[in-house]
Amino acid sequence: MAQMTTPKALFEHELKDMYYAEKTVEKMLPKLASEATSPELTKAFKHHLGETKQQIKNLERVFSQIGKRAEGEKCPGIEGLKTEHDEFMQENDPSTEMRDVFLTGAAARTEHYEIAAYTGLVSMARTLGETDAARLLTENLRQEKEALKKVETISKSLLKAQKTNGSRSNGSRRTTSRSGTSTAGRKATTRRTSR
Ligand SMILES: [Fe+2]
Ligand SMILES: [Fe+2]
Repeated sequence: MAQMTTPKALFEHELKDMYYAEKTVEKMLPKLASEATSPELTKAFKHHLGETKQQIKNLERVFSQIGKRAEGEKCPGIEGLKTEHDEFMQENDPSTEMRDVFLTGAAARTEHYEIAAYTGLVSMARTLGETDAARLLTENLRQEKEALKKVETISKSLLKAQKTNGSRSNGSRRTTSRSGTSTAGRKATTRRTSR
């Protein structure tokens, strides 16, 4: 393996890493949107999917600005976040309410990861004098920060609603199985009534 000695080579590596991460997020978001039962959370995931597609295009433009072909490099960081989600869903049987809160946490962890990566990429692009690349990467960074704020707000309101419901039902911890309604059925009902 050749030794990496230049900031440009490191920048390129980090860019490939992020390209892989965004492509992974693009595949994950529709799944998260279908798992969420809170209409607000589903909407937030769908909205961020649109932004993610734009972020991928921005990364492709950055690649072309540095004269490189857009390609990803397997990123264990994002794979770890994905595995954490997948294992939780398999190993636990969260109520719809707990699942929604879990999904906001999983999303927030992903946004923090992306924010850290883009902050580094923007600094490197500026150092290298890649002004246009820095601008595109800053746009992606701004969207990740907005997405983080949104899921944090949703998480707080979900927890607040559960605290109210919990005190009404005298500390009941599980609400899904009692009604005997399937998750999909409950979700459809929620969507219908929310229109
Ligand atoms: Fe992203
Ligand atoms: Fe994101």
